[in-house]
Amino acid sequence: MYITQHGGPFLACLIYGCSSGLTFMFVRSLKDAIYGQVWDAIEVRLHSGGGVDFYTPVLDERGVPRRFAVKRMPKETIARLLPTMQENPMREAAFLTLVQDPGHPNVVGLAAALQDDTTVYLVTPFVGGVGSGEMFDWVADNYQNPAPEATIMPLLYQIVDGTRYVHSKGICHADMSLENTLVNSAHTEAFMIDFGMALQMPTDEAGQRFMSVPDRRRAKRSYCPPETYKGRQPYDGVKVDMFSVGCMGFMLFTGIPPFDYASRLDRKFRKVVFQGDLQGYLADYEMPLLPDPVFQLLRRMMSYQPENRPLPVEVLEDPWFAPLGYAQQPQAAAPAMNA
Ligand SMILES: Nc1ncnc2c1ncn2[C@@H]1O[C@H](COP(=O)(O)OP(=O)(O)OP(=O)(O)O)[C@@H](O)[C@H]1O
Ligand SMILES: [Mg+2]
Repeated sequence: MYITQHGGPFLACLIYGCSSGLTFMFVRSLKDAIYGQVWDAIEVRLHSGGGVDFYTPVLDERGVPRRFAVKRMPKETIARLLPTMQENPMREAAFLTLVQDPGHPNVVGLAAALQDDTTVYLVTPFVGGVGSGEMFDWVADNYQNPAPEATIMPLLYQIVDGTRYVHSKGICHADMSLENTLVNSAHTEAFMIDFGMALQMPTDEAGQRFMSVPDRRRAKRSYCPPETYKGRQPYDGVKVDMFSVGCMGFMLFTGIPPFDYASRLDRKFRKVVFQGDLQGYLADYEMPLLPDPVFQLLRRMMSYQPENRPLPVEVLEDPWFAPLGYAQQPQAAAPAMNA
């Protein structure tokens, strides 16, 4: 696929997809990313008439312009940073393609992967709400007044169900965090993004899951489980993600991270994860305690031992979620684990 760029008096920047047939107009820069920048963009169609070229937005079924987030990464930056980074844009494109089929409402898939001579563009449907749309910013902005249980419950359910879906494709996200989850303005829908650190979990032909070999892959520090923080032992990708999602749940309820880093040298980690005393940690800070069913569930998800953490489907079946009244769908089980 080859694309060229045009500038114009009214267009901040434009990608013109010659062979792809896709044209995007960059509206505003959203955020710096590891390898470049993420842009808010709409899809446009090029028209020529009377000696003038002009563009009209492509509309969706509701009649509004189709909006995308375009991760724009200079090839020079990729070549320079790739040897030292765990994130890999090519792998990200591959995983986004895999999760796109058949897709999940809470997992953002790939709309297009494009390149020109100098730049790679990963195009995903735009999701999220005001500001950056990141769940992290929403939580940080309201850390003294966290959202009520009734708001958090469906969001956490969606995150766990999205994680279950990703695992059913044989993929571990490996970087689950509030930063990599977007939320709509009404705070009713969550969306998983950023597969830059994801990995394919080793499975045999029967779909039985095996441990991943130790590597340098680490979730962000406040979400990273002990087995990958050390990076020296084989690990189960499903249980790694469950630990990180447990940390996300803790932050949604309290507005603060559960610990600084996954080592017994960290006092908070010893209290929260090693002793499972989430309530004691909150009491130390004179913060409101978690509702008991939430405490029980998060403590299991954030267990020190991976084998004590529940699978996503077990979390979804937890009685705490019963008030949502979601009928359990027949679900594609995550591959079995024999290690
Ligand atoms: N589909 C999307 N819709 C709306 N905003 C998005 C979308 N994808 C990414 N963003 C915004 O761009 C930010 C960076 O995207 P992403 O996490 O995929 O990039 P990254 O290279 O991993 O950078 P970072 O170091 O910030 O994680 C997101 O946190 C979010 O604010
Ligand atoms: Mg990210």
